[in-house]
Amino acid sequence: MPDLGTEKTREFDILILGSGAAGLTLALRSADFARIAVLSKGDLNQGATFYAQGGIAAVLDNEDSTRAHAADTLTAGVGLCHEDIVKYVVQNSTEAVSWLVEQGVPFTTKQTHSGTDCTDKAEQPDASDLSSLHLTKEAGHSHRRIIHATDATGKAVFETLQQKAQNHPNILLFEGCTAVDVVTQKNPGQARKICAGAYVLEQKTGKVELISAKFVVLATGGASKAYLYTTNPDGASGDGIAMAWRAGCSVANLEFNQFHPTCLFHPHAKSFLITEALRGEGAVLELPDGSRFMHKFDTREELAPRDIVARAIDFEMKRLGCDCVFLNISHKPADFVQSHFPTIYARCLEFGIDITSDRIPVVPAAHYTCGGVVVNKHGETDIANLYAIGETSFTGLHGANRMASNSLLECFVVAFGAAKHIEGKIYDTPLVSGIPAWDESQVSVPDDEVLVAHNWDELRRCMWDFVGIVRTDDRLLRAQKRLEILQREVTDYYRKRTVSSDLLELRNLVLVAELMIKCALSRQESRGLHYTLDYPDQDAQAKDTILVK
Ligand code: FAD
Ligand code: SIN
Repeated sequence: MPDLGTEKTREFDILILGSGAAGLTLALRSADFARIAVLSKGDLNQGATFYAQGGIAAVLDNEDSTRAHAADTLTAGVGLCHEDIVKYVVQNSTEAVSWLVEQGVPFTTKQTHSGTDCTDKAEQPDASDLSSLHLTKEAGHSHRRIIHATDATGKAVFETLQQKAQNHPNILLFEGCTAVDVVTQKNPGQARKICAGAYVLEQKTGKVELISAKFVVLATGGASKAYLYTTNPDGASGDGIAMAWRAGCSVANLEFNQFHPTCLFHPHAKSFLITEALRGEGAVLELPDGSRFMHKFDTREELAPRDIVARAIDFEMKRLGCDCVFLNISHKPADFVQSHFPTIYARCLEFGIDITSDRIPVVPAAHYTCGGVVVNKHGETDIANLYAIGETSFTGLHGANRMASNSLLECFVVAFGAAKHIEGKIYDTPLVSGIPAWDESQVSVPDDEVLVAHNWDELRRCMWDFVGIVRTDDRLLRAQKRLEILQREVTDYYRKRTVSSDLLELRNLVLVAELMIKCALSRQESRGLHYTLDYPDQDAQAKDTILVK
């Protein structure tokens, strides 16, 4: 891996913060016309992409249509999706899948086994014939339209794109480099601020370097780590949202935190998701006594959109005072379960749960940040030459509740658009010079790391307890008060101490949590993922919550 200590690694055409599906796609789509740096604050695979299970939604079946995919997305989003972006993303889904197949992603293909269910197996599909891809089903989708690589789609996508990027002469990949803030300039006479690069902490040296770039792209993922229980990896601390807000971008709809209904409930299973595709293939939800309950909440039962299923589980757990509910797929043939869900089968077995015969204990957990940095369909933010793509952005696609497997799709389609947009501007865009280096002459070495650890824990507990699946104004106001105190402590600490990756994440997460609460308090209705006992009804008119700094 290169380091940031040389002239050659401090100036780029495009600086991409994030090496998940969005960042790597943009890098590969731009590498023929630009010199690119892709940064990850941890190992390259540390984002949510690597852990994605279910798949990518795309219209590939003759019986399906982009109209149906768009209609399902709009229904799941409960009136708040932006129809133009929904159409744009859905209409470009086939192109996205074709490109991924061309890159060599080993998607699962159809294989009919006489006398049994359709069984799938990861192998190289034929790039010219997408009809060979196996399609699975997930909640909210009226058709089978999820392409996947068994139950480890994200790993297959990440490894393929990473390998391509690593071998491209115009792309440099950096691990262990945490962006602190983007750098902007406003020149007299210019209407908008311009982004000129970013300050980046290189963890191995502890130094903060200035990286200049004509374009900076935030591809930093979501903020689900704001919650104590989450399906997300540790780095999901909302860095891109926080950096964009500090730089002056508007953010939107941060009250819509998606809770995935089925995270494995086991004391030693940190953040392990049980994919919705299990329910798509027939798994049912049961109470501890073995009875089913989803029919009481929605006619679509287990395949109702996520907000409804997560709320139903939360309701039943509170009603019965139980720690979890159960997901059961043991009625399906064992070889079907093992071949469709090898990762989940193996992981559960490590905890003594054989999913071909046992029920799986599950609970809802924070999963996806539907809101984010406000962008258009090319990923442009309010600041010139600063883009945001993937989970960190808000395009308007997901509305009040994201439909399963539309997230990866959005990463690819918007990254394609951003690459094209940047290509159209790159030859007329100079590097901005004269940016001051990072100044740490006034700070001292941290002497009390326990403060960071304590505040980190307090924040996540507070969000879980007061800003969870079911909300009230009283709980939100309590959370707001506690966060104001945390914010003051963290700001003070940040001003006086040299930065560390943990401190930067805490600083970002406190800010994003505050923005989430602000958005939640301003939505005085219940819609999709935002459910409040004080305003249980839905307003006649759907409106985004847009915060402008
Ligand atoms: P990520 O993949 O999260 O990558 C973020 C990158 O940014 C990382 O490289 C990280 O190191 C870097 N980064 C963050 N902050 C900084 C910083 N300050 N400086 C430098 N680098 C930084 N969606 C689907 O559509 N289908 C699925 O099947 C699916 N399954 C999922 C399963 C799980 C368990 C989870 C957690 C999510 C799932 N999702 C799924 C959601 C989807 O995976 C994510 O929304 C998507 O992968 C986000 O991609 P991204 O490129 O925006 O960010
Ligand atoms: C899952 O596999 O259940 C997650 C899919 C998603 O988040 O889109």
